[in-house]
Amino acid sequence: MNGFEIIDKLERLKKAELSEYAFLVSNINEEIAEYAREKAVAAQKRVYGNKIFARGLIEISNICKNDCLYCGIRRSNKACERYRLTEPEILACCEEGERLGFKTFVLQGGEDGFFSDEVLSKLVKEIKKRHSGCAVTLSLGERSRESYELLKKAGADRYLLRHETADKAHYEKLHPKEMSFKNRIKCLETLKELGYQAGCGFMVGAPYQTPETLAKDLKFIEEFSPDMCGIGPFIPHKDTPFADRSAGTLKMTCFLLSVIRLIKPNILLPATTALGTIHPKGREMGILAGANVVMPNLSPLSVRKKYELYNGKICTGEESAECKICLEKRMEQIGYEIVADRGDIVK
Ligand code: 5AD
Ligand code: FES
Repeated sequence: MNGFEIIDKLERLKKAELSEYAFLVSNINEEIAEYAREKAVAAQKRVYGNKIFARGLIEISNICKNDCLYCGIRRSNKACERYRLTEPEILACCEEGERLGFKTFVLQGGEDGFFSDEVLSKLVKEIKKRHSGCAVTLSLGERSRESYELLKKAGADRYLLRHETADKAHYEKLHPKEMSFKNRIKCLETLKELGYQAGCGFMVGAPYQTPETLAKDLKFIEEFSPDMCGIGPFIPHKDTPFADRSAGTLKMTCFLLSVIRLIKPNILLPATTALGTIHPKGREMGILAGANVVMPNLSPLSVRKKYELYNGKICTGEESAECKICLEKRMEQIGYEIVADRGDIVK
């Protein structure tokens, strides 16, 4: 089968062999990318029309006990200036978010021990009480089943935990010894079992990534069938062991967005900040490749620069309201519209 035939097959069956996924990513060219893009956008429009969902992202802490080799807030980075938002600060971000029309709040942060089950449960309950009808998404790393369960009971609706790579050996090259691929995947399974809308994801162009590891990522998405999938280019951070690596590309990221849209037409797929960082029109191009979510930053301006997973991150000097207006304009320019909606997956 050639690349076009594999794309046809994906559109029809929503699955492919590992070898076919690997063939696709190693033989990407303009024509195939365009072919996939058109079919992906057709699927996106069938399910979501020209509507784009927005999530207000609140970066609650950059304190992290983990030491992922690619990440700017890894614990070994002594140059990283640490912060943790207080509960009133987080609630104020949500207040501002509601004023701006957001109906989903994403609390994202490093694995910061301060955010115990008790602290987080109280916070989630308070947010759900103050903003009825809003969804709360957590993106706070690996926790125990009991913890995920308590947070679900407290009202959390969704959980994002990028799997990072679906290849164990690759996972081990990106993470320190104390982190395990097995536990990562177990966490995702648990989240799904507990009834969360669960999101996985990976970085495009991560160090040591190959067509074979990418094929496994696509197979994982096909089989795990996440509700959401966060993918963006890897971008080096100067104070990490991967400082000298090159960034992932716009082309490959957009192509993978299209392929993922074909595998799962109703998936919630963000055009990420990292994509907007490697190219001024990156997020627009992500939407035009099949993405249907944007995640404007709602964090207080005072901490924006400190949540630096990678260098050059955009939107660190803009107020939340500015990002909202900016994104609305950007989406409008390409014929899409941001809607004030919880933006649950269409099943
Ligand atoms: N470049 C791009 N994305 C990164 N992430 C962490 N470090 C980087 C980087 N250098 C991503 C990881 C993580 C998410 C919160 O950010 O995939 O899961
Ligand atoms: Fe933040 Fe454009 S989205 S400045």
